[in-house]
Amino acid sequence: MSMPSSSNQQLSHENDSWKKTMVLPPKDTRPQTEDVTATKGNEFEDYFLKRELLMGIFEAGFERPSPIQEEAIPIALTGRDILARAKNGTGKTAAFVIPTLEKINNKKSKIQALLLVPTRELALQTSQVCKNLGKHLGVQVMVTTGGTTLKDDIMRLSESVHIVVGTPGRILDLASKGVADFSEASTFVMDEADKLLSPEFTPIIDQLISFFPKDRQIMLFSATFPIIVKHFKEKYLVKPYEINLMDELTLRGVTQYYAYVEEKQKVHCLNTLFSKLQINQSIIFCNSTNRVELLAKKITELGYSCFYSHAKMLQSHRNRVFHDFRNGVCRNLVCSDLLTRGIDIQAVNVVINFDFPKNAETYLHRIGRSGRFGHLGLAINLITYEDRFNLYKIERELGTEIQPIPPVIDKRLYVAPSALEDSEGQADNYHFSNSNRGGRFRTQQPNGGGNSRSRIPDPLP
Ligand SMILES: Nc1ncnc2c1ncn2[C@@H]1O[C@H](COP(=O)(O)OP(=O)(O)OP(=O)(O)O)[C@@H](O)[C@H]1O
Ligand SMILES: [Mg+2]
Repeated sequence: MSMPSSSNQQLSHENDSWKKTMVLPPKDTRPQTEDVTATKGNEFEDYFLKRELLMGIFEAGFERPSPIQEEAIPIALTGRDILARAKNGTGKTAAFVIPTLEKINNKKSKIQALLLVPTRELALQTSQVCKNLGKHLGVQVMVTTGGTTLKDDIMRLSESVHIVVGTPGRILDLASKGVADFSEASTFVMDEADKLLSPEFTPIIDQLISFFPKDRQIMLFSATFPIIVKHFKEKYLVKPYEINLMDELTLRGVTQYYAYVEEKQKVHCLNTLFSKLQINQSIIFCNSTNRVELLAKKITELGYSCFYSHAKMLQSHRNRVFHDFRNGVCRNLVCSDLLTRGIDIQAVNVVINFDFPKNAETYLHRIGRSGRFGHLGLAINLITYEDRFNLYKIERELGTEIQPIPPVIDKRLYVAPSALEDSEGQADNYHFSNSNRGGRFRTQQPNGGGNSRSRIPDPLP
């Protein structure tokens, strides 16, 4: 039956009226690379998602799907197993969260999906993405990790939970005790799947899967898929749809340099970098817990503000550091590989490997903490004599070139045009900005020398 065109127009007008009720964030005007712009031109509306879900997506500031979302969302909605590989910061989280949310029946008070991640901070972040994108859906999301009180989780599970986000140990604990019931959980996602399938986790994953129904859908996501995944794939996945958007491995927006130094010159070198670089926020990686603490102390002594985090800290303290750094309370964060994977802080434009990592996967994930969603970033590696072979090995494995650091680094390589220090006159006018992502910021000054955040209490002992 055909309708008169005027009522057709009226219908589409009425159908679109929900769009006017949305509160959209300011548009992100920073330049983006092809890592996220080379799409097929899909729209989120092409996937026939619930209107409430579309509202959550648009209100998060997403305008259209990224390449990995275009590939994964339609297939995931059909219920097929997926093994997906895409570069850091290109939107893998929403690629599995959107179809997961779409498939939840909020009338049914049962756990229907598990999103498994390797670290507690990543669990908190992923559950937040679920809550944001699903905020109009009436879906109950629960996050559960080690380092918190088991009793609280048990209490929470006595209420309605549709999606569980968490780390393997605690989830297995809850499932084995019969507190978390996954018997009707049809979706099982493993983010950073290669990490979850490393020997430290595999026995847990094997047990966990036994609590799921036979016809569950399993989806694996990561930027890196070493061969260890093959065994799992053959054992558990049914005709998986494989996505690989990594024709090259490193991000186009991230410029990589190395500085050849002696171990004892490292702190001095870092000091020089702090004074020369236009850091909005930085993450500085060390190879051990001990070195994280020592370096954080040195940085504080140099007069710069910094937080630190590592696995041996109390979880409550770890959470506070993560939360406050994300909110821009402090400019620099020193950490171990605890925060190497998945952590998404758009304001980070510089990553420094104070200690060079041992393998290519770790390197890739670390430098991928900058240059999120196709934006610009800078990765600086301090290389000692002992690291030299490792540097060549990682360059070779990743097919990338890490250049020696030039005397002057062009700020246009890692600072958004809107935030470039264009004139001295604006120096007093800057503010250290996280919320507007590209913000106006300038070179940081030690102790009170213009750092607007120096008044903020430093959590370091
Ligand atoms: N369609 C989109 N439009 C705009 N921004 C998006 C879109 N999808 C994701 N983003 C943003 O991109 C950033 C990176 O996304 P995400 O953390 O999912 O990347 P990732 O692929 O999981 O990276 P990693 O491999 O490092 O874990 C997030 O800040 C997210 O909000
Ligand atoms: Mg991720």
